[in-house]
Amino acid sequence: MAVSFSPPDPSKFAAGGVSGATHPSPVVVLRRVSKRFERGEGASVAALEEVSLEVHAGEVVALVGPSGCGKSTTLNLISGVDRADGGELEVCGVDLRTATLERLAELRRRSVGIVFQAFHLMAHLTAEENIALPLALDGREDGARVAHLLDRVGLTKRARHYPPELSGGEQQRVALARAMVHRPRVLLADEPTGNLDSAAGAAVLQLILDLAREERAGVLLVTHDDSVARAADRIVRMRDGRVVDR
Ligand SMILES: Nc1ncnc2c1ncn2[C@@H]1O[C@H](COP(=O)(O)OP(=O)(O)O)[C@@H](O)[C@H]1O
Ligand SMILES: [Mg+2]
Repeated sequence: MAVSFSPPDPSKFAAGGVSGATHPSPVVVLRRVSKRFERGEGASVAALEEVSLEVHAGEVVALVGPSGCGKSTTLNLISGVDRADGGELEVCGVDLRTATLERLAELRRRSVGIVFQAFHLMAHLTAEENIALPLALDGREDGARVAHLLDRVGLTKRARHYPPELSGGEQQRVALARAMVHRPRVLLADEPTGNLDSAAGAAVLQLILDLAREERAGVLLVTHDDSVARAADRIVRMRDGRVVDR
């Protein structure tokens, strides 16, 4: 996918995002994090080996590397759906090594937004209802916030449409609005443009960059598309479960 993006506007995020700026404390910290998966009959595979990285508020970090190098595993550890075997992992000040399952669930509900390659919208809910869902699951309702995000992703006129009636690009914009509705401090995006044509992908990527900066979320954007990675503030490269360069 060959796409172009507007460069980051430093005036929009005074205390983070661009190199050289003073950062507040990071929203994601991994220090020498390791993760193995059992492969049966005593065999296991090292998915992550001593991975260290940080993401600051308002900063977009691209996580790149070949298939199988551990990108999705890294996101799964940060969102607390999986547990690390070793190392230190802190998200929004919460130590994930010692957090209870309840605390991890609360962290996802309140502080983390996730966008998947395959959208994962609820087909029986309208665009508007999909976006409102994270708030509803947390016992909240905020029509103005939902309307703002619908507008922000350019889908106000599609609010009452169901996902099957929307294009891939539109579905991913709904998914992005849903991921941001609860004002997460961390946005995790796993190949968010992977299922889209270049124009739709560019639109989604630009929205991720803009929303992250507007709302000062720290973004970890998994991609193996270099043109997507170049739009980020910083690139972290992985190979065979390790960070090789940043
Ligand atoms: N649930 C799992 N069980 C066993 N192996 C896994 C599991 N998840 C990932 N792996 C293995 O861990 C490695 C990293 O996978 P993954 O993080 O999905 O890579 P990427 O997202 O970079 O393509 C791969 O070797 C993969 O096969
Ligand atoms: Mg993956």
